[in-house]
Amino acid sequence: MSLTRRKPLAALLDQAAHGDLKRTLTAKSLVALGIGAIIGAGLFVRTAAASAEAAGPAVTFSFIVAAIGCAFAGLCYAEFAAMIPIAGSAYTYAYTTMGEFVAWVIGWALVLEYALGAATVAIGWSEYLNNLVGMRIPFQWCHSPFETNTAGVNGIFNAPALVILLLLTTLLVKGTEESATVNMIIVVVKVSIVVLFVVLGWQFINHANLSPYLVPSTVPGHEGLFKHGWGGIIGGAGIVFFAFIGFDAVSTAAQEAKDPSRDMPKGILGSLAVCTVLYILFGYVLTGVCNWQEFKTAGKEASVAYAVQHYMPGYGWLATGITVAILAGFSSVILVMLLGQSRVFYSMANDGLLPRIFSEVHPTFRTPYKCNIVLFLFVGAFAGFVPGSLTGDLTSIGTLFAFVLVCIGVWIMRRIQPTMHRPFRTPLVPLVPVLGVIICSGMIISLDIHTQMTALAWMLIGLVVYFLYGRGHSNLNEPAFQDVGVQ
Ligand code: ALA
Repeated sequence: MSLTRRKPLAALLDQAAHGDLKRTLTAKSLVALGIGAIIGAGLFVRTAAASAEAAGPAVTFSFIVAAIGCAFAGLCYAEFAAMIPIAGSAYTYAYTTMGEFVAWVIGWALVLEYALGAATVAIGWSEYLNNLVGMRIPFQWCHSPFETNTAGVNGIFNAPALVILLLLTTLLVKGTEESATVNMIIVVVKVSIVVLFVVLGWQFINHANLSPYLVPSTVPGHEGLFKHGWGGIIGGAGIVFFAFIGFDAVSTAAQEAKDPSRDMPKGILGSLAVCTVLYILFGYVLTGVCNWQEFKTAGKEASVAYAVQHYMPGYGWLATGITVAILAGFSSVILVMLLGQSRVFYSMANDGLLPRIFSEVHPTFRTPYKCNIVLFLFVGAFAGFVPGSLTGDLTSIGTLFAFVLVCIGVWIMRRIQPTMHRPFRTPLVPLVPVLGVIICSGMIISLDIHTQMTALAWMLIGLVVYFLYGRGHSNLNEPAFQDVGVQ
């Protein structure tokens, strides 16, 4: 049995034609799904952090750099998603291009992106909820056992994070269409708040805050290569990358799209484009209204609300609106991440690499409900008992790794299946995939060694599971695949 045995494309397309999942998503709901997963903690929390730590007002350029890296990967995702419109995203693409072993590795890495991403944002949700209710939730019930406050109180477990995960899991079990409707409402709320902030904040821009636009190396604490000037823009891009995570989640729902060949590229690239424009405007207004240096001190936490309260007199209501939009925004990010993770597991179980329980579909709702429930327990354990700082960077590394493999996969597919019908073609292959690999690998290397080692340990666990279970249970062992000669 070769590690590079591939799932025949015909088998994949047949699976798509006879899938159990219901096709309910239109181009509009796919763009909304993307925006639902994209705008969240990254925009509302990390914009200020990136400007304070590295880029200053030039955080707008950091958004552009991160968006370019994502666009290269996004173009590759779009080609695959239109050509192989099956639940499972990068995992599925890898199975037919680079073989079962790489597919397993990528599926395992996607757990970091989606499951740990959902846990990270659920922990953030809990913090903002506590903020909204005036810090009335006792510390021990909204923190993990690994956290202690200044009064020496130890966390026990993060109850609000668990509650939001339970609510959203229930919604997902109920149906993708219902989830898409709720997502659409949330997207309208959060995009409205971003637009309101940009429009209302524009008149409060103080041009002195934006000058000089690039951070001078003479500012104390900004001596490092990635802490000032053009280098600071790159450093900032690494920080705001998290804000773009999620556009790829659109591709996990390919099997539920009404017309995937036409709508997948629209969903992926459309949501990425909308968010990039909003992010640049948001970054410009935020650093124009409040001086970026303040985000290191008094405005370090809840920075957007801080900027409104201190520099936009008469708009206190907007600060509350922003907190509500953040809570709503985080909910949709969690929703789409959970959806994405369950669809990846659904595909892996369909292929025999994971136990069948993950692919069993509810008789009425036609959703992989058992998978959703197991995921709730898994993600809930992280959200309840592990600090958010630990899960955040792992989300980024898992995502970047998947991006790299998808870029390589597009190129391989062009070589091994050059004549296959491609409703959407990535432009300038191999240049675009190669640039995608370089930029995304660069961002992986720039992450800290601790994160890299933890991710490596996770991947090693994945290898053990594959060799003990997945390899022996794979559908590719079945005679049907042997007969057609699995490549
Ligand atoms: N892009 C998502 C967020 O910013 C993960 O919350």
